[in-house]
Amino acid sequence: MTSYNILKSWIISDRESYKDVIENCIENFQPKQFLGLTGPMGSGKTFFTNKLIHYYGLNKNVFFQSPSFALHHHYQNSQISIDHLDLFRLENHDELESIGFWDLFSQDDSLIIVEWADRINLKLIPKKYNPIIIEFKIENNIRHCYLKKLIF
Ligand SMILES: Nc1ncnc2c1ncn2[C@@H]1O[C@H](COP(=O)(O)OP(=O)(O)OP(=O)(O)O)[C@@H](O)[C@H]1O
Ligand SMILES: [Mg+2]
Repeated sequence: MTSYNILKSWIISDRESYKDVIENCIENFQPKQFLGLTGPMGSGKTFFTNKLIHYYGLNKNVFFQSPSFALHHHYQNSQISIDHLDLFRLENHDELESIGFWDLFSQDDSLIIVEWADRINLKLIPKKYNPIIIEFKIENNIRHCYLKKLIF
C-alpha cells in the first residue's frame, strides 16, 4: 500500500487560486523532480499543469508529440526541462516499460509531471526524484488540492 504525508492543502475557489499551490510546489522542487497528479476527469490536472508551465515562461507552442505516449509534451528553456505525460490510456503497469516511461528518469535534471499518477506503482519512482503528488478533488462543488509526499 502507498502511504503519504499530506504537507499542505488548499481550497481552489477560482482559476487564479492555483498560484499559491504552484509557488509552494516550486519552493519544494529539487533539480530532479517527479510530480504526480491524481484526481478524476475534469478535476484540474491539465489546467494546473498548463499554469505551472506558464509560470516558468514556457507555453504550449513549444512541444513535441511522442509516438508512444497518448500525451507527452516536452518543454524546455534555459531554466528548466519539463516532461508532461498523461497515463489515462495506460493498459497495464508493464506497458510503462515498453513505452519508455522509466527512461525519462535517466535524463539530465528535469521536472516530470504525470497525470493519472495513481496508475503507477509510485514506490518504483527513483527516490532521487523526490516524488510529490498533488491530489485534486471536487467535493460538494468545492475544489480541493492536497500536496502529498510519498512515504517510502
Ligand atoms: N477553480 C476553478 N473553478 C472553476 N473551473 C475550474 C477551476 N479550476 C479549473 N477549472 C476548470 O476545470 C476544468 C479542468 O479540466 P482539466 O482538463 O484540467 O481536468 P483533468 O483533471 O486534466 O481531466 P482529465 O483527467 O480528463 O485529463 C478546466 O476546464 C478548467 O478551466
Ligand atoms: Mg488532463
